[in-house]
This record gives sequence, structure tokens and C-alpha cells, in this order.
Amino acid sequence: MEEVVERIMFTEEQISQRVGELAEQISRDYKGKTPLMVAILKGSVMFFADLTRKITIPMEMDFMAISSYGNAAKSSGEVKMIKDLDKKIEGKDIIIVEDIIDSGYTMRYLKNMLLARKPASIKICSLLDKPSRRETEIVIDYKGFEVEDEFVVGYGLDYAGLYRNFPYIGILKREIYE
Ligand code: IMP
Ligand code: MG
Repeated sequence: MEEVVERIMFTEEQISQRVGELAEQISRDYKGKTPLMVAILKGSVMFFADLTRKITIPMEMDFMAISSYGNAAKSSGEVKMIKDLDKKIEGKDIIIVEDIIDSGYTMRYLKNMLLARKPASIKICSLLDKPSRRETEIVIDYKGFEVEDEFVVGYGLDYAGLYRNFPYIGILKREIYE
């Protein structure tokens, strides 16, 4: 375990098992359809790559990047688009794939923006959910795990751009960000 991590919350094996279950559920729910799965960069890269590889129905991928917290561990409620989708989504079945939903502001912004483009449907898939910090209601259609009010890193999740490469999800030591 890396020295910035207080404790491992989800091991590689636990993540892999849960991601497999989500992929099965999505493959079942979208049978006969071809969903467009949208990765929200950069946090969801690991999750997106593992999840989509386990999906057994035809699907498309696209990528969108939005601003994150910068170096702070708290949400400002401000969201900025850095890279938009490459293609039109009108009439498509969209699944937004995110790393974690915290205050919910990022997802609310994303969902509203994509809804305005008239897709056939939009569902939300998030690896992690921190419900105790929610400030705006969000329905998570596919959820990996719930976490307590702790700052977690690894498997795509960062603090100040670092630690995304850890293969597990761990709690960041408080001394790192306080
Ligand atoms: P929200 O807008 O407050 O829901 O924040 C969502 C974004 O904040 C996520 O996409 C993450 O980039 C970041 N975030 C929130 N909590 C954590 C955490 O515990 N670790 C790493 N990133 C986090
Ligand atoms: Mg993120």
C-alpha cells in the first residue's frame, strides 16, 4: 500500500467483481439496443475501460472532459467543459460513466446539457457514490459502491492530479490535503 493511503477501501478483486456485475446488468437492460457510453475524463478511465470490456452487447464510446476541483478536495459547484463529445447524440441511448458522485453538481450539469441535445434516453453509471455530501438530487441508475465522507484515490480517482494509477481505491491520508 502506498504511503499516502490511510487504508484500502476496495481491492482490485472487489472492484473487478463489482464492475463485472454492473456490466452484466447493463448488457441485460440494453439487449437489442446499442447504447453510447460516455466516459467523463479523466476520473472514469479505469472504470470505463474495465466496464466496457465486460459488456456483451454492441455499444459505442465517446469521451467528454470537464473541469474538476483543481487542487482542492471540495466541490466549488462550478463546472466547465474542456472537451465535448465528438458526435451528435440525438435519438441515442446514453449511459454517462463517472468515477464518483459527491455534491452531485457535476452530474446535474452534465445530464442537463446532454438532455438538451435530445437523446432517446440518459442513464447514469457511477463507480462510487458519496450520498452524505449530496447537495442536489441525482438518481444513479448503475452504482458500484457507496462510500463514507472520506477522500478516496486510485483506480482513476485523483488528488491534485496524482494517485490515479493505484490499482485499488484507498482513503487518502488527511495530512495530504488538510
Ligand atoms: P461533485 O460535482 O461534487 O459531485 O463532484 C464530482 C467530482 O469530484 C468527481 O468527478 C471527482 O472528480 C471529484 N471527487 C469527489 N469526491 C472525490 C474523492 O473522494 N476522490 C477523488 N475525487 C473526488
Ligand atoms: Mg471526476
